[in-house]
Amino acid sequence: MTNQCVGIFDSGFGGLDITKEIVKVLPEYNYVYLGDTARAPYGSRSQELIYKFTAQAVDFLFKQNCRLIILACNTASSEALRKIQQEYLPKYYPEKKVLGVIIPTVEAAISLTKNNRIGVIATQGTVNSRAFEREFKKLNPNISVFQKSCPLLVPIVETGEHNSEIANIALKNYLNPLIKQDIDTLILGCTHYGLLKDKIRAIIGKNINLITEGRVVAEKLKDYLKRHPEIENELLKTSKIKFLTTDLTDKFQILGSKFFGKPIIPEKVILE
Ligand code: DGL
Repeated sequence: MTNQCVGIFDSGFGGLDITKEIVKVLPEYNYVYLGDTARAPYGSRSQELIYKFTAQAVDFLFKQNCRLIILACNTASSEALRKIQQEYLPKYYPEKKVLGVIIPTVEAAISLTKNNRIGVIATQGTVNSRAFEREFKKLNPNISVFQKSCPLLVPIVETGEHNSEIANIALKNYLNPLIKQDIDTLILGCTHYGLLKDKIRAIIGKNINLITEGRVVAEKLKDYLKRHPEIENELLKTSKIKFLTTDLTDKFQILGSKFFGKPIIPEKVILE
């Protein structure tokens, strides 16, 4: 079957930032983007619920003829991906693949750090899951990871306040403890934080490496498809993207277009 798509899932529209980079690096493929805006944010929800919602989204995207799905959402990658790969896929979709954003980001950070002290900012769910710590320990047990959950940042971005003084105050509050730990690399471990990148850079200065996930995930996907021709050969290559959301609001269209870098026209779907 050479008619399959790449699925990209996020709790809302933040994953459109990652999608933008994926499409830049791999423009030839067909994509289905799904944002579960009706049930976002995921960041403050329980692991059980995040898994349930993510499994429903994965099922939906496979039924939309996706061959492989990227969980662009850090919270879903942290709280649901392992169980999806180890239990859900073998049972329901043994021939399909689901990949997340944590491992590519961890690999990128390891390649940049010189002093093995890495900071991560993310949602409460991602921090609680300890997924970043786990993956760092697997790849390099000498790395010290300093995590900070930043519950105000998603609402700040979603209300369009990312250029405001409120954003500055919140960011300084969250970042100063990490800077004091002498980190030399900082991971923006949440889909929304890319929009705060310039402010974050101004606070941390130029000597700390800043990792945003879009480009990293896009390059890793390219590499993955090169190593898996059996998947790549099955992908449709007519450069189309479908944008799906579980709640059709102006916000999805306005902020979604900002994250994606050009206007999008989303369609509403129901996840069960
Ligand atoms: N997409 C989520 C993440 O990357 C942020 C928004 C949410 O909490 O749902 O963690």
